[in-house]
This record gives sequence, C-alpha cells and structure tokens, in this order.
Amino acid sequence: MKTIAILSQKGGSGKTTLALHLAVAAEEAGQLAAVIDLDPQASAAGWKDSRKHETPVVVPMPASRLPQALEAARNGGADLALIDSAPHAGDVALAAAEVADLILIPCRPGILDLRAIGPTARIAKLAGKPTFVVLNAMPNRAPNVLADATAAVAIHGLEVAPVSLQQRAAYAHALTSGQTAQEYEPKGKAGQDVADLYAWLRKILK
Ligand SMILES: Nc1ncnc2c1ncn2[C@@H]1O[C@H](COP(=O)(O)OP(=O)(O)OP(=O)(O)O)[C@@H](O)[C@H]1O
Ligand SMILES: [Mg+2]
Repeated sequence: MKTIAILSQKGGSGKTTLALHLAVAAEEAGQLAAVIDLDPQASAAGWKDSRKHETPVVVPMPASRLPQALEAARNGGADLALIDSAPHAGDVALAAAEVADLILIPCRPGILDLRAIGPTARIAKLAGKPTFVVLNAMPNRAPNVLADATAAVAIHGLEVAPVSLQQRAAYAHALTSGQTAQEYEPKGKAGQDVADLYAWLRKILK
C-alpha cells in the first residue's frame, strides 16, 4: 500500500478536492483506495455520506489514530491511502507527512497563495519525503501563470507536479452530489486532468 499525504496550511487550496478525485481515479483504475480524513470539519466524510457508491472508503480519524487507520487500510487490502488534512494545524500535517510515501501540496496560483506555501514546505522538509506542489484552479487562458507559479514554488525549494488542475465548475458541482468531476462529466476536461495526474502518480509511486 502506498500513502499520499495531502497537505496545505492554507484553507481552501483544494486538499479535499484532490484527495477525493484521486481516490475515485484509483478505484476507476482497479485499485482499492481509502481516504483518511484528519480534518475536524470532516468534509471528505460528509461527501461520502451523500455518495451512492460504496467506494472509496472514507474514514474520519483524529491524527493520534493515524497509524491504526493505516494499518486497518492495509489489512483491508487498500492499494492507496490518501490522507486529507486540516489547514492551520501543523502538528497534524507533520503526523501525516511522517507516515507518507509522497506529499502533495495543492496550491492556487495567486501570489498570496504561493507566498503562503512556506509553513507547509517546512513541514514537508522536516519529514524528508518526496514532495510536489499541485497547482489547482489554474485559469484557463493565462499563458504566464504556470511559469510564474513554478518560479514562486522554487523559492520554497519545491517542485511543481507536471499536471495541474484547471479552475472548473465540475469539481464543485460534483462534490455536492457525492460524486467527483470524472463521474459527473465523464468526457469533461476536469476528469481528464485528474486521470493525467493519477497516471503520473502511479509512475512515481512504483
Ligand atoms: N480546480 C477547481 N476548480 C473549481 N473549484 C475548485 C477547484 N478546486 C477546489 N475548488 C473549490 O474550492 C473550494 C475549496 O476546495 P477544498 O474544500 O477542496 O479545499 P481544502 O484545501 O480541502 O479546504 P480546507 O482547508 O477548508 O479543508 C471548494 O468549494 C471546491 O469545490
Ligand atoms: Mg478540506
């Protein structure tokens, strides 16, 4: 079982969106995925409550029970565990980072969001795990945004993942009905971005 910690000390950067979309992408690729929801807001668990499908498994958990949650996921046959974490909770983020094989930091491409990566970058460095920033809610027509964001991320000593997620209404609409964008709009561009991101993750997690 591989474990991905999704961290960002900034609220609303896309942690839960990323965790749920990657979990469904894994299930669609024939893998068993578990989402461990460390956020007291329990947004991922709330999404699961409104979902018709039985999978992926979503388990709300305090960070103190993280080792047991991962053990249960492993014993249950999970191939991939995705840890969704809370903003403004450095100790919880560090606990997730320490048990992960890989850390993903979702970040919107605005300058204030990019500057706010510092505390999350320090947590990732402390844990010493491979880490990538996933640019999220990228504007559709703004050619310099990717280059500028990549440069801003590099200031924190981090790399940007080769696949970004665009700003698309399908992400928000889908979550309302317990779905993900690839289910809500099977031929849509949001679903394609998620599939590309998941395919890249599969390669680097081998
Ligand atoms: N690529 C996107 N395009 C459009 N809307 C998005 C995108 N990513 C996230 N959103 C929307 O932005 C909001 C915040 O996203 P999300 O809840 O995933 O962030 P979060 O980091 O988990 O927030 P928190 O820190 O509160 O846990 C949600 O309403 C979500 O639907
Ligand atoms: Mg969240």
